[in-house]
Amino acid sequence: MSETLLELAIVIPTFNERANVPLLIAKLDAALAGRAWEAIFVDDDSPDGTADAARAIARADPRVRVIQRIGRRGLSSACIEGMCATAAPCVAVIDGDLQHDETLLPKMLDALQADAGLDVVIGSRFCEGGCTGEWDRERVAKSAFATKLSRQVLKADLTDPMSGFFMIRSEIVRGLVPVLSGIGFKILLDIMTASPKPLRFRELPYTFRVRIEGESKLDYVVAMEYLIALYDRMFGKVVPVRFAMFSAIGAAGAAVHLGVLFVLFRLVGLPFVTGTIAATIVAMTFNFLLNNALTYRERRLQGAGPILAGWFSFCLVCGVGAAANVGLAAFLHNVQHGDWRLSALAGIAVAAVWNFALSSRFVWG
Ligand code: GDD
Ligand code: MN
Repeated sequence: MSETLLELAIVIPTFNERANVPLLIAKLDAALAGRAWEAIFVDDDSPDGTADAARAIARADPRVRVIQRIGRRGLSSACIEGMCATAAPCVAVIDGDLQHDETLLPKMLDALQADAGLDVVIGSRFCEGGCTGEWDRERVAKSAFATKLSRQVLKADLTDPMSGFFMIRSEIVRGLVPVLSGIGFKILLDIMTASPKPLRFRELPYTFRVRIEGESKLDYVVAMEYLIALYDRMFGKVVPVRFAMFSAIGAAGAAVHLGVLFVLFRLVGLPFVTGTIAATIVAMTFNFLLNNALTYRERRLQGAGPILAGWFSFCLVCGVGAAANVGLAAFLHNVQHGDWRLSALAGIAVAAVWNFALSSRFVWG
């Protein structure tokens, strides 16, 4: 048994960062000289062979470990898995593209080791002495907006809640896993808002570096996932996020239905029934495609065959849902003589729940 006990794990989420892997290990080696650390790459099966590049180094250096996830994507969930895969008492998360300043790591570790009352140390670009480096105006504005939104769910006064660079006691993360959402990019925000008692934090300034190798994965899907994660934190317990999306898309589908009907019936002059049939098919197709792209994006149907089969079963489910809608609304209206608006809403609600429950099982199950 060696005398030195493992002090720190550094979790490095990667997707297509092959060229950065050896550079990062060399930088960690220099920054953490004299400390007992391990690095855990969590790679989502990058097509560029990032995991192989990390394994090549790991064969000669047992401090380097690799988790290769197959068939899954997601920065936050990758970080969570990495943080749970270590025996070290402290765990840091750092980007694999060298944009975070690894020379901060020993200072973060010193802070946690010196003060038992401290839970997490956060690398901040926005506290005194920090800097976002060479960002264009647009990125500064987007980041400021996202930070402002995060204040809606965050009680703590963090200068950089969107930071992906921090160190935390691994025990705390393990305790929080059941309540983490794991959605999207913002793992720190997820952790800070999940904890039932406020985490005691300290911020250390650093300058966000410019990416040299590879490219950023932050795109519109990531932006959308950020909004979804915020929604989940605020209202997810009342109305589950997937059902909320499904319903919102359903409402948009109703608008599409009315639009198509207006064109075919009023403008083109087709019979009302013909127009309604066409509008129904267009609206169901619209709903199917949007739900496939957004609500069920992580298990999206791809390729002509599965899409066609999915569309068909979706129409079948919604057809039954529509019949239930009409049946219940008519029953309430004719038999119970309730308010016509309440009857209509009850029909819609039942159909929405029906459509959601059955399509999540039979179309995207
Ligand atoms: N495993 C895995 N899976 N890793 C991912 C994924 C994924 O789906 N998407 C991105 N990564 C990895 C990248 O390979 C990189 O190492 C790191 O996560 C950050 O991704 P970038 O695409 O470089 O994001 P960024 O530079 O725009 O933003 C990052 O830095 C910000 C500032 O700290 C993110 O980490 C933000 O969360 C962070 O706020
Ligand atoms: Mn980056």
